[in-house]
Amino acid sequence: MIKIKRKIICLIFTLYYLNASVSYAENSVEVMHWWTSVGAEAKAIGTLKSDLAEKGIGWFDMPIVGGGGGNSSEVLRARVIAGNPPTSAALLGNKITEWANREGALRNLNSVAEKEEWSRLIPRAVQKFSKHNGDWIAAPIDFHSTNWIWINKEALDAAGGKAPETWDELVNVLDKMKENGIVPLGHGGEAWQEMTIFDSIVLGLGDDFYQSAFFDLDPLVLSGPKMLEAFDRMAKLRTYVDDNFSGRDWNIVVAMVAQGKAGMQIMGDWAKGEILNVGKLPDRDFICIRFPGTQGAITFNSGQFVMFNDVAEEQKAVQLEMASSIMSKKVQFGFNVYKGSIPARVDLDSDGFDSCAKKAMEDLAQADASGRLYGSMAHGHASTTEIQGAFYEVVTAHFNGELTSQEAVNELVQSIANLTQ
Ligand code: BGC
Repeated sequence: MIKIKRKIICLIFTLYYLNASVSYAENSVEVMHWWTSVGAEAKAIGTLKSDLAEKGIGWFDMPIVGGGGGNSSEVLRARVIAGNPPTSAALLGNKITEWANREGALRNLNSVAEKEEWSRLIPRAVQKFSKHNGDWIAAPIDFHSTNWIWINKEALDAAGGKAPETWDELVNVLDKMKENGIVPLGHGGEAWQEMTIFDSIVLGLGDDFYQSAFFDLDPLVLSGPKMLEAFDRMAKLRTYVDDNFSGRDWNIVVAMVAQGKAGMQIMGDWAKGEILNVGKLPDRDFICIRFPGTQGAITFNSGQFVMFNDVAEEQKAVQLEMASSIMSKKVQFGFNVYKGSIPARVDLDSDGFDSCAKKAMEDLAQADASGRLYGSMAHGHASTTEIQGAFYEVVTAHFNGELTSQEAVNELVQSIANLTQ
């Protein structure tokens, strides 16, 4: 059902954008992205748009609805195959590498990256996706960490007031919230949202486990007792979700938590952008904690803009200016303050950011120094799109009660084996 809905959305967008006979003024960019929430995301992307406007560069928006960017890949593929790519597109992690693998698709950004010393400014873990065979092919606009829980403060106080630090404490708080008559865990039933939770559960069972399950795809680990435990934990969390979760957008869940209808949401820090946007404040109205067991470590994703080679000459002229704008301190600050994330360059200080973002900056420095910075599987920073898709399928089928935990483990092992052998 979910897949059919997604296919229909993609088809509508594809037909629309393939047929659109837009004529671009000189000095303009057409930009594809999925930052469509009218609150924080629109304001965030607006900061880049207005920076370009100040430079006399126009903006044609190509927004593709669908959290996590899942729908945008198919539309982008159709545009490129039709010989009509946008000037620039936002992409995540391995999708960038996969586009870079198509010879000649992406513009080389070395001239601007070297002039502006990007290699000194961007964390190495992010650079891994901004570069291909040593060349710069993407400009990162944000750094999101995904192993967060956003908890309504009043709901937490009513549930005993102590932020959970372990799995058992988390279950305890969720039980109390249930007794108190609210939805303990706000959740949107989409594969990427379920996988976001699964990332945190896996990391919560140990860094080695995360590494060997997601990066090494070790069959012994995938079929082992910890993976079974991870699925059991997902099944436990499923018992705290309300009946109407299926297909719910992530930002609707944010509103549920902000209003106290739900106690908490397990989600990346784009959720915080939306909570701040409705006037809620960290510590006073909500708190941010790392998923129990993942303290000191980070699962991350970073949205990056690539530029396509096969565009009209007048757009080529502005692509490098756009890349430079993305990396400017002004845009990195403005975009990330709204978006809930932190800058993708590490030389900005934390003035002007909220307390959760300040914590995220400290966490990033600490996790980077201690080697505990991990790409998110849910958001395409751990493995290929195919492997990510295999995890999505199993995790979401299990969460929806179609598979027992043991069946989910078996299915996962089988799908990964099919893709890797
Ligand atoms: C992206 C965020 C975005 C979120 C919801 C994540 O994959 O990194 O930038 O806000 O999905 O669409």
